[in-house]
Amino acid sequence: MSRKIIIAIDGYSSCGKSTLAKDLAKELGYVYVDSGAMYRAVTLYCIDNHIIQDGNLHAESLKFAMHDIQVGFRYDPLHNENITLLNGKDVEKEIRSMEVSRFVSQVSALKYVREAMVHLQRQIGKEKGIVMDGRDIGTVVFPKAELKIFLVAKPEIRAKRRFDELKSKGYEVSIKEIVENINHRDQYDTSRAESPLRKALDAIELDNSFLNPGQQLERVLSIARKKIADGVQN
Ligand code: DC
Repeated sequence: MSRKIIIAIDGYSSCGKSTLAKDLAKELGYVYVDSGAMYRAVTLYCIDNHIIQDGNLHAESLKFAMHDIQVGFRYDPLHNENITLLNGKDVEKEIRSMEVSRFVSQVSALKYVREAMVHLQRQIGKEKGIVMDGRDIGTVVFPKAELKIFLVAKPEIRAKRRFDELKSKGYEVSIKEIVENINHRDQYDTSRAESPLRKALDAIELDNSFLNPGQQLERVLSIARKKIADGVQN
């Protein structure tokens, strides 16, 4: 039996990380973990429990509420995907709303939120055989991941992808709103003190602006298969 590895995929918002991660996991028979969904679930909790109110995040209240927040996943075999759970409830659709997107960078910049989520992410990855996407997976969560990919794409292409994704899920948003949100999150995610978005030194950078999902999968899959095989020979 071949050894299992950890594949870390990091990059800016709406670069196609989840598409690549899901496709890779499917091909390799690995588990796909969307770490952004975990920060989104915490943000949804804040909105539902008035920790975010009138556009303000009450960070101290969130600190006290952390013990009351259980984030997890349930595998849906019918669609072959993980459903995000917040305190046992399916929140997969709610966490993709623009309201959550507006506040998630602020919530995910908090040290105690990151510590709790990183702990959970490492637990999930203990047995390896996972593809996890996010902002700090190759730098902080799994610095020894066998394969690290840093995805990049042109800003206008990222905005169009987010627009199409939200539209297909029934959300009414304008391109302008999306561009503003992407710029805001890029700025926040790269400049925060805690685990800012960075390309790991040993990450492979891939610009997928002009690659379709099949092409990007083909490129990364061949590298992943080589990594898996290298490990077996060692
Ligand atoms: O991947 P996403 O757009 O769903 O992530 C939502 C936000 O969560 C993103 O703006 C930054 C944050 N995030 C993070 O700080 N660290 C991660 N590993 C994943 C996401």
